[in-house]
Amino acid sequence: NTFDFGIVGLGVMGRNLLLNMADQGHAVAGLDLDDDKVLSLTEEANSQHRIKATTAVEDFVALIRQPRAILILVPAGKPVDAVIQNLLPHLDKGDILIDGGNTCFTDTDRRYTELSAKGIHFFGMGISGGEKGARFGPSLMPGGNKEAYERLRPIFESIAAKVNGEPCVEYLGNGSAGNYVKMAHNGIEYGIMQLISEAYDLMKRGYELDDTTIQKVFEDWNNTELESYLIEITGHILKKKDTDGQILINLISDWAKSKGTGKWTSQNAMDLEVPLSTVDAAVAMREMSKNKPERIEASSKLIWNAEQTNTDLPAAIETLKEALYFSILITYAQGLALLTKASKEYNYELNLETIAKIWRGGCIIRSVVLEDFRKAYAKNSELKNILLDDSIAKTLNENQSSIRNTVQFAVQKGIPIAGLMNSLAYFDAYRSENLPTNLIQALRDYFGAHTYERTDTNGIFHTEWND
Ligand code: 6PG
Repeated sequence: NTFDFGIVGLGVMGRNLLLNMADQGHAVAGLDLDDDKVLSLTEEANSQHRIKATTAVEDFVALIRQPRAILILVPAGKPVDAVIQNLLPHLDKGDILIDGGNTCFTDTDRRYTELSAKGIHFFGMGISGGEKGARFGPSLMPGGNKEAYERLRPIFESIAAKVNGEPCVEYLGNGSAGNYVKMAHNGIEYGIMQLISEAYDLMKRGYELDDTTIQKVFEDWNNTELESYLIEITGHILKKKDTDGQILINLISDWAKSKGTGKWTSQNAMDLEVPLSTVDAAVAMREMSKNKPERIEASSKLIWNAEQTNTDLPAAIETLKEALYFSILITYAQGLALLTKASKEYNYELNLETIAKIWRGGCIIRSVVLEDFRKAYAKNSELKNILLDDSIAKTLNENQSSIRNTVQFAVQKGIPIAGLMNSLAYFDAYRSENLPTNLIQALRDYFGAHTYERTDTNGIFHTEWND
């Protein structure tokens, strides 16, 4: 029992994380029921690696030094419970199990409680960065017991992505904090991807730019304040040619799939009463993308003849860039505001500066703006919303004419930009001292005697509106 760590599930993610750990000098045991996976891992390892993979649970557990640390990387849901049940008879008090999948945080809470009663420390850990990230440096979001984390810290810090030498992993908080933070990460991921696709649509159908020019715009944008992983890979994607030389993106079906994390983010934001309108729009647009036959039918019935526009192209692209930047900031703001509320609601004790810090590298939503957010939280850890930071507010104010012009252009052209529009609406609502929701209160009171509060005096009021 001299191995430092164990991984259950040797699919791509499990195998890559295991090899990443082995590269860093850790002795790692692997378990998978599939002989082929065990074999292919052994083949992939080099002579310096201290790796042992097996299909036998007993042998696997016996390899790992105590307290054992075991990462489970199997599909979220029932498979995780099955693995836990398999391992349990062989574990001892104080051992640590970590679920590294995109697990719903409420499942983690349940498992945390069940396993705590048995003396086992259970962690939910978000892992971001895809296959490459797992192999060469992911962003890791662990939540669970703080003391138990010390057993994991050196291993995780050694394999995580580094920004300015700082590892993109830190203990995040209690219970299901890790899975919750990863869920919010994915909500933001949904929002930004939607916004990027809208900017692409505006260039393609709005300004009628050719494929090469659009590709070049994204490539150039990655050298600006938009610098980020998702902008960078959009530039790569738009360049890719199919075997016959056609641009691949033009051959990809527009039916967007999803595994559910974005939807969970929106659902939970509604439960916590946190507005998340850009993410909601992103989820809705993926749903809309599924109705292809209906959309085809509607496209010949619901007609809008857009006027020809004369555009100064370089200026329009600059405006679009600023509009996209503005909306991306709003998307992060929504996700971070959700984390602020969730931290209180679920007693996670999250530190938003830490989260911004570990998202700067390794993860899918990494971008240069995360450093601005980290600084904002470093200045004021009680910041209710990132929009209230002076420096972020200044940036948004400077870019707001661009988002307004972009939205106007899209509306005139009949191009759906739910993400951009909702980002602007969030901004305008957030900065409105008075919203028209007083009328909603009056309507509720009129038809249902639901009562209302007044601006001029305290108390609960009801009016007989028909008298
Ligand atoms: C990451 C990604 C990863 C996965 C998404 C895809 O951080 O590495 O978020 O976890 O690719 O969950 O989600 P959808 O299938 O829902 O788009």
